[in-house]
Amino acid sequence: MSKQKTTFFCKSCGFESPKWIGKCPGCNQWNTFAEELKPSKQVTAWKKSGRKIAEPKPIQSIEASTQERIQLPDEELNLVLGGGLVPGAVILLGGEPGIGKSTLLLQIALQTPIKTLYVSGEESETQIRLRAERIGIQDNRCEILTETLLENILDVLEKDPPELVIVDSIQTLYTDQLDATPGSVSQIRECTGKLLQFAKEEDIPVMLIGHITKDGSIAGPKILEHMVDTVLQFEGDRHHAYRIVRTLKNRFGGTQELGIYEMAGNGLRGVKNPSEIWLAQREEVLSGIGIAVVLEGIRPLMLETQALVSTAVYGTPQRSGTGFDLRRLNMLLAVLEKRCGFRLGQQDVFVNLAGGLKLEDPALDLSLCAAIMSSFYNQPLPTKCAFSAEIGLSGEVRAVQRVDQRIAEAEKLGFTDIIISKYNKTNSPHQGNIKIHTFGRIDEVFSWLFG
Ligand code: TYD
Ligand code: MG
Repeated sequence: MSKQKTTFFCKSCGFESPKWIGKCPGCNQWNTFAEELKPSKQVTAWKKSGRKIAEPKPIQSIEASTQERIQLPDEELNLVLGGGLVPGAVILLGGEPGIGKSTLLLQIALQTPIKTLYVSGEESETQIRLRAERIGIQDNRCEILTETLLENILDVLEKDPPELVIVDSIQTLYTDQLDATPGSVSQIRECTGKLLQFAKEEDIPVMLIGHITKDGSIAGPKILEHMVDTVLQFEGDRHHAYRIVRTLKNRFGGTQELGIYEMAGNGLRGVKNPSEIWLAQREEVLSGIGIAVVLEGIRPLMLETQALVSTAVYGTPQRSGTGFDLRRLNMLLAVLEKRCGFRLGQQDVFVNLAGGLKLEDPALDLSLCAAIMSSFYNQPLPTKCAFSAEIGLSGEVRAVQRVDQRIAEAEKLGFTDIIISKYNKTNSPHQGNIKIHTFGRIDEVFSWLFG
C-alpha cells in the first residue's frame, strides 16, 4: 500500500515545506512546523455553479457612499466593530474556553431581528436550545444548523441565504476536498477561505468563533487573522464575572474601542459604567491600595491597584504581579530603590489589579508605586485621591495621554484629588470639585503623601 503523502506547515504563517525544519523561513519563528496530509485536490469556488469574475474599474466610478452597517442589538459589540456590522465582513472572535464566546454570539443570533444561521460543530441542538432558554428566546428568525462539513453548510447557504452567518467554531469545520483532520492548518485555511469568498460575493457578514492556544494566540495559522476583516478578542478571568472584548484588527474601523460585559445567569450584559464595578465599595481605610485612572482603548477606567510588601522569608525576595507586567514591576521597584532610597531589596512585593483585569497603560505606574509605599509604611493613602502618571527611569513623573478625560472620570466618580505629572497640560476647565496636584519627581509625590 502506498504511503499517504504528507507535508509540513508552519502553524504561525502557513509556510509549506516538504520536510520538517526548525526555523520557518517565512516568519523566522522556531519550532512551528507540524506534519499534515498533503491537500489532494485543487481548491474550487465556494458555490457549485462556479465563480464570478471581477473586472477592474476606474477608482472614480466606485461608489464612495459609506456602507450601510447592520446595527446589532448589542451596543458594546457595535462599538468594537466600529459602528455596527459591515455586510460581507468576516469577523473572528477568539478567546479561551469557557469565557463566553458561544454565549455572546448565540445571544446576538437570538436578539437580532435579521435572519441568522447559527452553525455549530461544538454542541448538539438540545444543548444550544437549553442555552438559548437561559438567554431568552425572543424571535424566531434564528436557525440552528449542527454540521461540520463545509460543503453541506455552503449548500444550505446557497439554497436559503440568511442575513448573518455565525460559525461555532472554525476549528471544527472541514472540507472533503482535503484529507487533513478538522482543526489542522490546511483545513482551517481552506474553510476560512471559502467562507470569505461566500461573504464577499453575497455581501453577507460571517462571524467565526476561534479557539485560543495555551500561549494566547488563536489556534491555527496566523494567516487566519490576516484573512479575516476583523479580529476580536474575548478576555477576562473565568473566576470573575467581567469580560472584555478588544479589537485586535479592524478593516472597517479603529482598534481603540473596548466592549465590557458582565456574565450573568441569563447571558452577557453590557456594562455602561465600568469604573463603578472595579472600585470596591468599602468602609475601612486600608494601606496598600491606590486608585488609578487608566485608559483602555479610549475609555477611561478607574480601578484599585493593590500592593503587599512584607519581609522576605527566603534569600531572594519574591516579586509577583497579577494583571501587571512583572518586568515593569521590577523596573518600578528599582526606581523606588535608586531614586527614593527605599530599601525594598529585602522585601517580598506582590501587586494585583482588582477584578482580574490585565492592563498595560503606563499611567498605572504612579498608583502602583504609591500602593507599594503605602503598604511598606503601613499607612493608607488618602481615600478620595486618584493617580494617573507614568514613572520614568530617573524617577520623573511623566505625562499621560488624554489627561482631561481621566480627570473628568475621577471627578464624575466623586474623587476630590488627582495626582498627575506637571508636564501634563490640562485644557478643559474642571468644575473645581477636584483638586489637581502636579508633580515632576516621584520623591516629591511621596513627601506630599507621607510627609
Ligand atoms: P460558553 O459561552 O460556552 O464559552 P465558550 O464558547 O467561550 O467556550 O460558556 C461560558 C460560561 O458561561 C459557561 O461556563 C457557563 C456560563 N454561563 C453563564 O454564567 N450564564 C449564562 O447565561 C450562560 C449561557 C453561560
Ligand atoms: Mg463554545
